Amino acid sequence: NTALMEKIVSLCKRRGFIFQSSEIYGGCGGVWDYGPLGAELKRNLRNAWWTTMTREREDVLGLDASILMNPAIWKASGHVDTFADLMRECSLTNKRVRADHVDPQEGVIMNYTGAEAPTGWKLDRVISVLMKKGEHIESLRKRVRTLIASNAGEAAGKPEEIVLLGEAKGDTVEKSIDFHPETGGALGPARPFNLMLKTYLGPTATEDDVTYLRPETAQAIFAQFKNVFDSNRMKVPFGICQIGKAFRNEVTPKNFTFRSREFEQMELEFFIKPDEAVEIISGEVAQWSEGADLSEPQANWGWDLWHRYWVDQRTKFYDSIGLGGVLEYYWQTPEDLAHYARACVDILCDFPFGTEELEGIAARGEFDLSQHQKHSGKTQEVFDEELKNAAAKLTAEQKEALIQKRLAAEQAKVKGEPMPEADVRAWFERLFKGNYVPHVIEPSAGLDRMALAIIANAFNETEKVDDKGKKEIITVLRFHPRVAPIKVGVFPLLKNKPELVAKAREVYALLKKHMNCFYDETASIGRRYARQDEVGTPFGITIDFETLGEKGPELQDTVTLRHRDGGEQERVKISDLLPKLLAAVS
Ligand code: GAP
Repeated sequence: NTALMEKIVSLCKRRGFIFQSSEIYGGCGGVWDYGPLGAELKRNLRNAWWTTMTREREDVLGLDASILMNPAIWKASGHVDTFADLMRECSLTNKRVRADHVDPQEGVIMNYTGAEAPTGWKLDRVISVLMKKGEHIESLRKRVRTLIASNAGEAAGKPEEIVLLGEAKGDTVEKSIDFHPETGGALGPARPFNLMLKTYLGPTATEDDVTYLRPETAQAIFAQFKNVFDSNRMKVPFGICQIGKAFRNEVTPKNFTFRSREFEQMELEFFIKPDEAVEIISGEVAQWSEGADLSEPQANWGWDLWHRYWVDQRTKFYDSIGLGGVLEYYWQTPEDLAHYARACVDILCDFPFGTEELEGIAARGEFDLSQHQKHSGKTQEVFDEELKNAAAKLTAEQKEALIQKRLAAEQAKVKGEPMPEADVRAWFERLFKGNYVPHVIEPSAGLDRMALAIIANAFNETEKVDDKGKKEIITVLRFHPRVAPIKVGVFPLLKNKPELVAKAREVYALLKKHMNCFYDETASIGRRYARQDEVGTPFGITIDFETLGEKGPELQDTVTLRHRDGGEQERVKISDLLPKLLAAVS
């Protein structure tokens, strides 16, 4: 829904939610700035996530790690070798596009920036269109116009150049570029392009100094796993979470802030026991079954129950910020899974440009910690006294039965090499002594995507007819009060009555210490309500003559409290305002 996306992008700029980065210099591809209201919205989302994920839990601790790290981390994690998108290079312009952004039906390459066009119309950025042999020039023009319209919302601007790939003679396209989706045709074969942003650390700026801006916050959590574990005397299961910037040199940034090159992630790495350790300690491993009770974690849960538990927890979180009704889930099939993942579910959300991923929840096994153990030479194992004691009570036959079960599971693997028998036996030997590398469940959310999802789903337009019969479109952002950037607007009924203004200032000062408020005395009261509705402020307070006691003593020191949704109004004592509002917004 391009029209809707355009309205959202325009509202975001007009009211100060999101601006194009470096706008006065023509922008900077794939990066965005948050204005005053966007900054508040993001802060509220960050706080809601942090409170839910760590403050309210005893089993999750926070971390705030650096963006720059030793590049060996990215080698160990697999990012240096495999963190890439497929990209094609155009033989006409020598420019690059993401391979999956070529639509074989339409022959359209989206967001093709910076190309030196063989043919071009000067606009804002570059888009390429494959000409179809035999196509009438009018039909080609129409296609280009539709393309411009459908792209306008994405990068908040019109394309600078339209690159037409092919040749026309008279009114018809005579030569089209021979495009085959498999081979890439004119675009050359699909080749991997590493998405990490390279930089130099140190004064020589040689290849020896190369490091990367982190492409995910997760690896710092793995790298600091032992420090957090040891300094806090933790016991598995427990988690470490972090919020912070991540950078990816996306070949094709897209859909406003949805896919950007600089963005913020909110990630939890939740460390659990391997199923075999659970089985040794508890005698059984509780597995997922339909209707399993996920309300309270249990000591005998296997990895799949922990995975379901975190999907459930994250769903509850989205409910609490007003996104409950618009989520979908995609359970990756064994073929979709990355080689290290045992399972992954994408939480999808309804955006104006389609249903897209908001968060991924992956069961990553012991992949990450094992990789860091291997590459750093430092053990990432934990010692579990309870496990050691329980293992000591097992008979040799019971131990062998566990080993045989694992060997059979290794042979039945759908993906990856089965672990050699000697390695399996060595692993059990360590496990029976109480040592293991924890496994991981990872809920990983994007803050910018969450903010966009919140704005897009809060966006609401209604038609209003005024006293003179004139129609007007009213925009309301129906934010959940917990995330709304401004919680309450405070308005004196009239600005030229010093008593009203003084009282309104008093109420504003009272509330401001506890929540973000907005004081406004200009224009009619209806106009002021409308301005706050447009930015999603859930409550409005009007100080009127009743407040001053001019309509009788019973209404003195009461105010009108207006609710954004529904517009209903109630009289509330000033002394009741704070508890009432705090209950609604926290
Ligand atoms: N540690 C796992 C990880 O990084 P991911 O699926 O690549 O997994 C997790 O990213 C989340 O980060 C995504 O679900 C999305 O919300 C956000 N994200 C990823 N790339 C992004 C981008 N280019 N722009 C905005 N958000 C992005």
